[in-house]
Amino acid sequence: MGSLFIYLYMVAAILFVLGIKRLSKVRTARSGNLVASVGMLLAIIGVLVEAHAINWWLLVIGLAIGGAIGYLAATRVAMTAMPEMVAAFNGFGGGASALVAIAILIEAATANRFRGLADVSTMLGASVPAGIIIGTATLTGSGIAYLKLAGKKANHPLSGSLRTQVHIAIAILLVAIGAWVGLTGSTTGAIIAMVLLVLLSAVAGVFMVTPIGGADMPVVVSLLNAFSGVAAAASGFVVANQMLIVAGALVGASGLILTMIMCKAMNRSLANVLIGGLGDDNVAADARDYKNIKSTSGEEVAMLFDGAASCIIVPGYGLAVAQAQHACAELAKLLEKRGIDVRYAIHPVAGRMPGHMNVLLAEADVPYDKLWEMDRINPDFQNTDVVIILGANDVVNPIARQPTGSPIAGMPILDVDHARTVVMVKRSLSPGYAGIKNPLFENDNTLMLFADAKEALQSIIAEVKEL
Ligand code: TAP
Repeated sequence: MGSLFIYLYMVAAILFVLGIKRLSKVRTARSGNLVASVGMLLAIIGVLVEAHAINWWLLVIGLAIGGAIGYLAATRVAMTAMPEMVAAFNGFGGGASALVAIAILIEAATANRFRGLADVSTMLGASVPAGIIIGTATLTGSGIAYLKLAGKKANHPLSGSLRTQVHIAIAILLVAIGAWVGLTGSTTGAIIAMVLLVLLSAVAGVFMVTPIGGADMPVVVSLLNAFSGVAAAASGFVVANQMLIVAGALVGASGLILTMIMCKAMNRSLANVLIGGLGDDNVAADARDYKNIKSTSGEEVAMLFDGAASCIIVPGYGLAVAQAQHACAELAKLLEKRGIDVRYAIHPVAGRMPGHMNVLLAEADVPYDKLWEMDRINPDFQNTDVVIILGANDVVNPIARQPTGSPIAGMPILDVDHARTVVMVKRSLSPGYAGIKNPLFENDNTLMLFADAKEALQSIIAEVKEL
């Protein structure tokens, strides 16, 4: 019977890998999600059947409460609050892994003839403290990431070299107390050490995330996702379940790869993100920084399309805020009917999470072949008549082309300024997420349409229909 579970877990693990592979392409992402979910269902069934001494009633109650909370949260969350939700999920994942390790420790320490976790097995002696440290730090670190994403301030109480020294001291203490948890043969000692480890890990999670700037939170969330995977793998070792080890390792590895992809897209190293503090301390640019601004109207923009042959739409975070994806797709269809070639330029970090724009436009049934990635579409801007930027800012900011001097220095951008006319739709002269001035606003070929993206699109659509 035991080997049957190994085969079941192998099938589940293969489905996870296939699912992740399919998630890497927009076209196959939905089916990838489904494939991975089937893998998870098989894994859960396997674990439940294999496990002994389950209190089925408690399980059903837990499933009902957890399922209801998850369903309500997922169906009600606004698209723009998705990063907060992912941060919360990571935190709960880490917390759950820490609880598993704590439960096993209490069970072992209160059993007769307890001689230490490491005495039961070296694996248990190492994986219990590891699960507690990584799981708890992920829980509190994700809590801080959640707050920062929701726009709340959460500053580190220390600064400069004192902060570094305290961080090093905490790291050393974590290793020392972790070793105490794993090695002590005293029941009281193990419980005291565990409580100290939980408290110190919680502080470590908070201190790890507080110095990082708000603009870098999506990268941190991805990193914490990797941590939650490592914590799950540690609890897989704690309860000796291969499936949990494999699933945790997959989450850990894919979270780390995603973190590196995001850093690369912003042309920054992970160390720079963790130390850099982008977004919190910048003095944000405002209207006083601009002189040569030409504002326009829906009617004037519609007239630009009279005689235009090509148009590139650049979606950004503001499109998500305005929920303007349907209006955007409607305008594109209208322009295509007039014989204009319409495409969408997708920057890898547009919006607030990986694939944000793809998901948004897929909601409005925009065909995948209309979505062009940055490297592929950049050479075409110079031959484009009209570019419409909908709530994007940093991803089209030419300041990024300068190798130093700004928080987005060196980040590859969409070369919108090479087009004949650029229409920038946003509500004001406020900056993007990086909080800096955007000289594109003042370019001779830039027209600013100050409005909510959805309202702006509706007015352009009405005027195009009149043409
Ligand atoms: P941003 O630079 O954040 O600019 C968004 C713009 O949208 C703002 O300037 C805002 O101006 C405008 N806006 C907000 N609500 C609007 C509405 N209802 N209608 C019209 N406009 C609206 O966006 P982006 O260009 O997409 O760049 C993304 C930023 O997030 C980059 O700095 C990137 O590095 C960072 N980031 C992204 C990710 C991922 S994975 N996507 C990860 C880490 C960091 P107004 O207030 O004037 O309207």
